[in-house]
Amino acid sequence: MKKTRTQVAIIGAGPSGLLLGQLLHRAGIDTIILEQRSKDYVLGRIRAGVLEQGAVALLEEAGCGARMRQEGLVHEGIEIAFRGVRHRIDFKALTGKTVLVYGQTEVTRDLMEARETAGAPIVYEALNASISDIETNRPRVRYSKDDVEYEIECDYVAGCDGFHGVSRQTIPEDAMRTYERVYPFGWLGILVDKTPLSDELIYVNHPRGFALCSMRSATRSRYYLQCRLDEEVSDWPDEKFWDELGRRLDSEALKQLQKGPSIEKSIAPLRSFVAEPMRFGNLFLVGDAAHIVPPTGAKGLNLAASDVAYLSRALIARYGSNSMAGLDAYPQRALARVWKAERFSWWMTQILHRFPEPSGFDEQIQAAELEYLFSSKAAQTALAENYVGLPY
Ligand code: APR
Ligand code: PHB
Repeated sequence: MKKTRTQVAIIGAGPSGLLLGQLLHRAGIDTIILEQRSKDYVLGRIRAGVLEQGAVALLEEAGCGARMRQEGLVHEGIEIAFRGVRHRIDFKALTGKTVLVYGQTEVTRDLMEARETAGAPIVYEALNASISDIETNRPRVRYSKDDVEYEIECDYVAGCDGFHGVSRQTIPEDAMRTYERVYPFGWLGILVDKTPLSDELIYVNHPRGFALCSMRSATRSRYYLQCRLDEEVSDWPDEKFWDELGRRLDSEALKQLQKGPSIEKSIAPLRSFVAEPMRFGNLFLVGDAAHIVPPTGAKGLNLAASDVAYLSRALIARYGSNSMAGLDAYPQRALARVWKAERFSWWMTQILHRFPEPSGFDEQIQAAELEYLFSSKAAQTALAENYVGLPY
């Protein structure tokens, strides 16, 4: 067994672990990041691509803002289509704020590069990670790599290992409470190297199901369709995808649609999930390890960023001035913002999708909710301020 020591052991090299690692490294705090997958595997995952200003600011603070500023697309609003008519929600006019369209894959790539340039340790293909002694001042993380066993002794463990990670499972069941909603549909997404059909994202509520026209850049589009949970990617050849998308779009949008061969296609189920508390002893849960939102509203990565903001500041205060206040407040501060984003993502999902076997009442309420939204500046402001991101 090879033994090492660090101040903060970070499990997971998704956006949460990489961003936390970078902010701590810049503050002179020692970290080791353990990632069970290879670098290429992590970079191959396609996820959402809308950044709130808070996340943008944090990436800049981490020294990873240059390419994002250059290549990211500033969006001042979105459109919502209902009964064949598009309605614009003008974020800039309603809140003075905008969002930045920049793919999570690019965020991950920038953060990985920054860590490599800094020469800070990151171990890919670190297998069988296990965490122990979290209720002591000397937590330990063990893992294996190339058939060699390693042990890291640390002050704190940051569990940034996503929904299926080991960190949340390390917390005793009787100390944890979980909340969950599973939605009766999924999103089928494709990525295509074609000009997006519009300058802004279009969220579509259609009798055949939800659709979303999104993008990664001025030359790369991302489209989604609501699909059934029993469907598989192989059920959806490109032609069928384009036909179905065409049925859900208004005629103007359809005219602008540029089809092409998909370069990625996947199905994701939709889920809301929260685990409490986000701290047990000296283990802190961050990002998807503690909470999942359905993708409607693109809050997943942004919520990971606000957790990282709270935890990085708390750790910097702990090492800088020996103040424990930030660490003690972390679970409650993070969760307060998490639940607001959970509410918003649930609400966006609720108003935009078609639910199997809805009652007539449910359908009328959904239509009333949308008509109210389109007619009320107050309702639009509520959507806009959540979409651009609540403060932290
Ligand atoms: N040991 C080491 N690494 C692990 C382990 C483990 N036992 N389990 C999981 N991991 C790694 C995963 O391989 C993944 O790279 O932890 C990482 C977790 O990354 P994400 O799932 O991306 O979670 P997070 O960083 O919190 O990102 C939150 O980004 O990925 C999206 O949908 C997610 O939008 C959300 C946001
Ligand atoms: C995406 O581009 O992948 C995306 C954008 C907005 C969402 C969800 C996903 O609400």
